[in-house]
Amino acid sequence: MKIHETAFITCAYRASDPELSGDRYACLFGNELTDRWVRAVVGEVSPYEPFLHCLRNRHWLDTMEDYFRLHPGGVLVNWGAGFSMYPFLIDGKIDCLDVDQPDIVQYKKELLAGWVNEGRIPARKVHYLEADFRQEDHDSLLADVRQWIDGRPSFFVLEGVLYFLTAEVTDRLFKTLAAAQQPGDMLGCVSFLPEAADTEVQHRLDDFFDRNNLSGDTFSHQLLSTESYRQREGYRLTDHQDYCTLSVRYAPQRAISDRKAILNENMYLLERI
Ligand SMILES: C[S@@+](CC[C@H](N)C(=O)[O-])C[C@H]1O[C@@H](n2cnc3c(N)ncnc32)[C@H](O)[C@@H]1O
Repeated sequence: MKIHETAFITCAYRASDPELSGDRYACLFGNELTDRWVRAVVGEVSPYEPFLHCLRNRHWLDTMEDYFRLHPGGVLVNWGAGFSMYPFLIDGKIDCLDVDQPDIVQYKKELLAGWVNEGRIPARKVHYLEADFRQEDHDSLLADVRQWIDGRPSFFVLEGVLYFLTAEVTDRLFKTLAAAQQPGDMLGCVSFLPEAADTEVQHRLDDFFDRNNLSGDTFSHQLLSTESYRQREGYRLTDHQDYCTLSVRYAPQRAISDRKAILNENMYLLERI
């Protein structure tokens, strides 16, 4: 598995319940190889993964919609966007930027252009930036993002990415994010807590990626404490959810109470100060 294949997998999870995830277009990315990976994760790691990723998408979709209601001239920047379809799910007037590795960006751009032509998805103002967050020097990435934002209010989302990055790359990336945002802008992040390292399900996930990493890509298994978000320079933590709280909100009939039984990602909303 390569890291970019994980983008297909999260997309397939969202497609499993479009009503819950809010992503009616995720199904378009479906393919047989991804279906095999999904069956493997569901069988060998955790059966909850599709449901949980639907909750995650719905949470950020609702959160960014709230932000854009207050800031109709705002922009969305999705860092490590994969095949997320937020630009097609939110108000079409919002300008959006997907940042990801070149192979993902090129493939997604081509697919979306074809689907717009075929009338399968609406035309949207989506821009793309190719980047590898591991690159030592983020100057040109920062300059490109700043130029694109052009002083407009911004909502950044960074989900499904931090697990794969090292602490050093993460620190560099957060500095870039802070430098690209202005006070009042928002940043949504997703990561696992260090406590998760003691759970069997997290061991199974780490082991699954290690066993199936045939690419030499880095799967760093990074875990981040809530305190690390409180300490992030330039940001104030304004909201913190996990899959248990989101399940109560969005699917009370399937509410999850045992945090250790699932791959429990935490959702942090930070305000640039
Ligand atoms: C699990 S996918 C998540 C995609 C999307 N955010 C979602 O939630 O569906 C991880 C994404 O992070 C991107 N990614 C991982 N490491 C990266 C890096 N060093 N630089 C840029 N993007 C990276 C991958 O290319 C992939 O699209």
